[in-house]
Amino acid sequence: MILESVEVTLSNGPLVKIIIRHAIKSDLSMIWENFNSVVCEKRFIPVISEITNKYEQESWFYNHQNENNIVLVATIDEKVVGHCTIEHNNWECSEQAGELGILLNKTYRNAKPSIGGLLMKNALREAKLKGFEKVNLSVFHTNTNAIELYKKMGFKIVGTRKKQFLIDGIYYDEIIMDYFID
Ligand SMILES: CC(C)(COP(=O)(O)OP(=O)(O)OC[C@H]1O[C@@H](n2cnc3c(N)ncnc32)[C@H](O)[C@@H]1OP(=O)(O)O)[C@@H](O)C(=O)NCCC(=O)NCCS
Repeated sequence: MILESVEVTLSNGPLVKIIIRHAIKSDLSMIWENFNSVVCEKRFIPVISEITNKYEQESWFYNHQNENNIVLVATIDEKVVGHCTIEHNNWECSEQAGELGILLNKTYRNAKPSIGGLLMKNALREAKLKGFEKVNLSVFHTNTNAIELYKKMGFKIVGTRKKQFLIDGIYYDEIIMDYFID
């Protein structure tokens, strides 16, 4: 089911139609291709090994389905260019709080309007429908684009874990942000 269809201008020029919809199983190879390309950038997420195992890739999808989580994709001509998840965390007593993750393939960042913004807007709307009361996220202190996007979407910084991540000898503080759904 299509949640939103919007024309956006990519940072390298072309005007394209972005569709935001729930992920389906056939999106998985493109979702993991994008994830692994972000892993290789080594600057944005606390993972350094690509996930290439098909079983692991499929389990990720089925776990999200079983746990009634939100997995949205942004597509151009059915090619997945990014995705956003809001998942239940493992604590029995935190059912009301979701955890957000988002990433875009490099070519599709900094579009106008922002594809990350479109994904988040729709994911937060779905979160409200599913009964989440708040959404948390965590981000490297150096990830200015992401932090600015999150602030624009209404998230507030609530804490910092100093030197929480270490990649190739560089420490990253973990910035914790949250958003209350009204
Ligand atoms: C984080 C990410 C999803 C952002 O998506 P995006 O669509 O490229 O977002 P943009 O960088 O275009 O920024 C969105 C908004 O923040 C604003 N913004 C971005 N950087 C900014 C800065 N340095 N100062 C002020 N505003 C800024 C943009 O102007 C834009 O606002 P607008 O919608 O009003 O135009 C994307 O950069 C990405 O996938 N990065 C790699 C993976 C990653 O970091 N994931 C998050 C891990 S926590």
